[in-house]
Amino acid sequence: MVIAPPPAQTASGVALLQPAHVGYMTLKHRVVLAPLTRMRADKAHVLHPIVKEYYSQQASIPGTFLIAEATLISHQAGGYAHVPGIWSNEQISRWKEITQAIHSKGSFVYLQLWAQGCTAAPRKHIQPELLRRLVDNVEPNFPYDFVSASDIPINPDDPQKPRPLTIDEIKEYYKWYATAAKNAVEGAGFDGVDIHGASGYLVDQFFQDMSNSRMDEYRGSVENRARFGLEVVDAVLKAVGPEKTAIRINIKENLPDGEDNDFIREIWTQEGNSRWLISAGGYSRDIAIQTVEQKGGLVAFGRAFLANANILLVTTSSDSSPTKLHITARPSDPVRAKHSAQ
Ligand SMILES: Cc1cc2nc3c(=O)[nH]c(=O)nc-3n(C[C@H](O)[C@H](O)[C@H](O)COP(=O)(O)O)c2cc1C
Repeated sequence: MVIAPPPAQTASGVALLQPAHVGYMTLKHRVVLAPLTRMRADKAHVLHPIVKEYYSQQASIPGTFLIAEATLISHQAGGYAHVPGIWSNEQISRWKEITQAIHSKGSFVYLQLWAQGCTAAPRKHIQPELLRRLVDNVEPNFPYDFVSASDIPINPDDPQKPRPLTIDEIKEYYKWYATAAKNAVEGAGFDGVDIHGASGYLVDQFFQDMSNSRMDEYRGSVENRARFGLEVVDAVLKAVGPEKTAIRINIKENLPDGEDNDFIREIWTQEGNSRWLISAGGYSRDIAIQTVEQKGGLVAFGRAFLANANILLVTTSSDSSPTKLHITARPSDPVRAKHSAQ
């Protein structure tokens, strides 16, 4: 997940709990809510009213940066039921109530822009247990084609192959991304947007050679496979500006001892630019503190934040600056151990 880091500053206390100026936002600390799909939207992909309460809780420490759940840029880009969208007036109005609630707490929020590609395809060859769960999630009577970078399904046994997007359709996606970004920022009041370029969804389907076997300028070299994602970034940048644009990408997971993903920090922060990098995935309290102390940036928490909402940061000072960090959960889970900093 990318937006940038000057080196961690440790003037006093824990760098993770120091303020940061990210785009137009002044964050009071560097703990971020990672985007978390909750499947709480109705048939028209409008979030249920209860979601406002949920995000208010996550925003309850002033100066917190939230990244709201993956949200469909258009109906055609979807295929899951119960996930939110950002193309209709009703969807935008509901999101606006939510951003207003977050801002009223003094916190900030980006919306994650999502196109599913072939992850939306119904699977017919899977275990009945899993099928039941997926059928609940797959939008009944989805009226559009299942599409991807090419005709490779997620599961090789899947009888239904996605259809590769044509060049004209790719260009249409850029327009949807741009409109969705404008709807989010100008319509719904988000502080910015985060393009979902990870987890095997459409942008990632172009990135990865195992899902991209196209025959045109979008396949082959790294530059070609990155083309779709970069052109999406361009479209969104033009729509809402660079200070309000972020992209989430996956790098390597489960690295062997001695290897790390720090090359991405070096690439991203070279030439003294002022971009921020948010890292996420399996952070414990101690590793998050150590990472920001030594390497700068911000750290996003998913499950631990979800489980703790307004107790993630416990404020004690009069101006509500966080002075304590609590992450509480099952001791067996390395992500979650009961801690109290300072
Ligand atoms: C229930 C759930 C929903 C998620 N939904 C999204 C999502 O909408 N977009 C996204 O980029 N990542 C999503 N993720 C991944 C999280 O953002 C995060 O990277 C992951 O939980 C690892 O961080 P953690 O170890 O702190 O939980 C989801 C994870 C979970 C557990």
